[in-house]
Order: sequence, then C-alpha cells, then structure tokens
Amino acid sequence: MRIQLSEEHLMIQKAARDFAQNELKPGVIERDEKQEFPAEQIKKLGELGFMGMMVDPKYGGSGMDTISYVLVMEELSKIDASTSVAVSVNNSLVCWGLETFANEEQKQKYLRPLATGEKLGAFCLSEPEAGSDATSQKTTAEDKGDYYLLNGTKNWITNGSSASTYIVIAQTHPEKGSKGINALIVERGMEGFIVGAKENKLGIRGSDTHTLLFNDVKVPKANRIGEDGFGFKFAMKSLAGGRIGIAAQALGIAAGAFELSLDYSKIRSAFGKVISQHQAIQFKLADMATEIEAARLLVYKAAWLKDNHLDYGQASAMAKLYASKVAMEVTVEAVQVHGGYGFVKEYHVERLMRDAKITQIYEGTSEVQKIVISRGLLA
Ligand code: CAA
Repeated sequence: MRIQLSEEHLMIQKAARDFAQNELKPGVIERDEKQEFPAEQIKKLGELGFMGMMVDPKYGGSGMDTISYVLVMEELSKIDASTSVAVSVNNSLVCWGLETFANEEQKQKYLRPLATGEKLGAFCLSEPEAGSDATSQKTTAEDKGDYYLLNGTKNWITNGSSASTYIVIAQTHPEKGSKGINALIVERGMEGFIVGAKENKLGIRGSDTHTLLFNDVKVPKANRIGEDGFGFKFAMKSLAGGRIGIAAQALGIAAGAFELSLDYSKIRSAFGKVISQHQAIQFKLADMATEIEAARLLVYKAAWLKDNHLDYGQASAMAKLYASKVAMEVTVEAVQVHGGYGFVKEYHVERLMRDAKITQIYEGTSEVQKIVISRGLLA
C-alpha cells in the first residue's frame, strides 16, 4: 500500500477544513443545544460537491476517490459530527448503493439529485427489534404483482425528516430468511409513509434521527434494487463502505478534540507555567497523537483497498472498531486536559465527547465489527 496525498487531495482537505471553520463552527454549539438540523450547511456542501463525492460525474457526482471522502469526513467531523453523519449516510449508504446496484432508470431518477445535493437520502435498516441482528427484519414488503405493499417501523433513521429518498430494507419471503429480503426506494410523499418521533439524543444532536412508519405503502416494483431477495446483501455491502465513513468520522472527532487540547495546553497556566510544560499533560498529548495516527492509518488503508477494488470488509470493520475506541478515549482525555473548562459547552470538547459515543454504536456496534473481523480471520 502506498498512500501519498496528492495536490488534489490536499486541496480537497483544505476546502473541507475551511468549510468546517467558516460554516460549521459558528453555530455548532447552538445547533447541538436546540437539536437543529444543519439544512443550510448541507445545501452548501452539495454545492461544493461533497454530497455525492464518489459518484461518477455522469450521474451528477464529483468522481473523487475514497481517500478524498475520508479526508473530508475527518475535517468536517473535527467540528461538527451532526453534519458529517448526514454527509456520510448520503455518500456511502445511499449514493454508493444506488450507483453500484441500481438500474439506469433508477440512477437517473434517484441518484442524480442525491449526488448533486439537491435531495438528501436515508438508509432504513434498523428496527425496534432488529439492530445488530439485522436479518430479523419485521418490516414486510408483500409482493402484489406490480408493486410491494410495505408495512412496518424503522428506528434511529439518520436524516429521518430531512430526506426525500429512503432506501428501505424489508422482508418479502420470510421462509427464505436473509435471502428473502429486498431493498426498496421509497419516496417521501408516498401515501402511508409517516415520519414519526424525533429522538432526543446524548450526542450528534443536530442530526435528525427519527422513527419511520410504513402503513400499506405501495412501492412500485420498479423501485426494487437488484434481483428479488438481494436486499440483505445490498445492505451488508453498503455498510462495509459506510463503516469507512464512520471510521473517518470517529477519527475526525478524536483529531478535533486533540487539536483543541494542544492549543489549550499552550495558553493555560497552572503551578507557574503553561500546562503543556507539565509532563502529565505532555504524556496525555503524546498518547492521544499516537492513537489518532494509528486510527488514521487504518482508515486510509480501508479507503485505499476500496479505491483499488480489493476486499475492504474486514479493513473497514477494523478501522471503525479502532477509530471509534480512539474517539471515545481521546475525547475523555481532552475534557481532562481542559479541566473544569472542558465540562462547559463553550470549549467544544464536551460535545465531541458526547458525539464520540455514537461511533461505537451506529453502522454496527463495536461487537458487530468484531463479528465481521473474526469471521474474516476464521474463514
Ligand atoms: N457482503 C456480502 N454479503 C454479506 C456480507 C457482506 N459484507 N455480510 C453478510 N453477507 C451475507 C452472508 O454471506 C449471508 O449470505 P449467504 O447465506 O448467502 O452466505 C447473508 O448475508 C447473511 O449473513 P450472516 O449469516 O453473516 O448474517 P448474521 O445474521 O450472522 O449477521 C452481522 C451478520 C454482521 C451481525 C450483520 O447482521 C450486521 O452487520 N449487523 C449490524 C447491522 C448494522 O450495521 N446496522 C446499522 C444500521 S445503519 C446505520 O446505522 C446508518 C446510520 O443511520 C448512521
């Protein structure tokens, strides 16, 4: 593996860094407090080409590589993980799945507006009783000839009320288990589709996470992605790439907390000198920087494998497992470096600590990542 950031990568990284500083940082504390979705910011990210980063320009995307995507995810997540999760879901779970597996008609109709950022997408797999155990889908898509009759409830859906296009995973042939599941493209306005309650969360509070209800929604057969029964594999393949995005998010949260800690340690004095001159703080900074660098290499490796069309399922699970652990550990240490100030909102690190936790839960808990990794090891 040879990873060297090109001039273009560095420009993309800088564009994302500038955007995060200028457009995300100013209102981030308020959005977190008010649980306000960053609608304006997402629109501007679309204009920058960051909502369909890896999509072919012929479908309205930016045609960039996965390394560019993780650079952008890291920079946005240093400041605002609520915004970056919306970016990640749209890019990895929705656009990638559509570009890779949808037919031409579906791509023209649904992928293009998602890739340009004109519309936002959501990925609906989790249910009240099917989180980690994703094959236990209770939502049904009954085959009615030229349409599916969709019934059920989806939980914890990112972009739940802001999206227009939803990829919904549902069971059509229960007797076939995971091979009876389909992935359907559902539009916001379809009759019987209800956006339910919004979750009041510990972290990523600006991200709008909802329960969705489907009551006898008639979804045209033309909206099924792939062959009958391809839905579970579709979901798993999408998640393998999605985990690279979330690993990059975790990396960004950790790196953001570290940068704040480093800066703070140089201006805060205690016991007669700036705290960066105390070995207790120096050791913390050294540990944080080393863990972040290790996480970054795992994230880049997974992205590099994907860009080189090599198997990245295990690498993406490792990157997510490790980067999310680092995000948790580094943000806790960042609060500690800041002392009492770290516990108040103005210093940003308490929010990053709260945001870090979800990276160990969504797109597969840490335990799910270990299942994926150990299966690869034992295969
Ligand atoms: N690619 C292709 N096929 C795959 C696959 C992959 N990566 N992973 C599994 N499959 C296939 C298997 O080969 C198997 O097919 P066969 O029967 O033909 O062999 C089929 O799918 C069923 O797989 P398993 O038997 O391995 O299924 P399992 O019940 O043992 O579960 C699991 C495996 C890894 C735990 C899986 O259920 C899983 O990943 N769960 C977590 C789900 C998850 O990440 N949810 C997050 C929701 S999305 C989200 O959070 C987005 C957001 O809002 C931010």
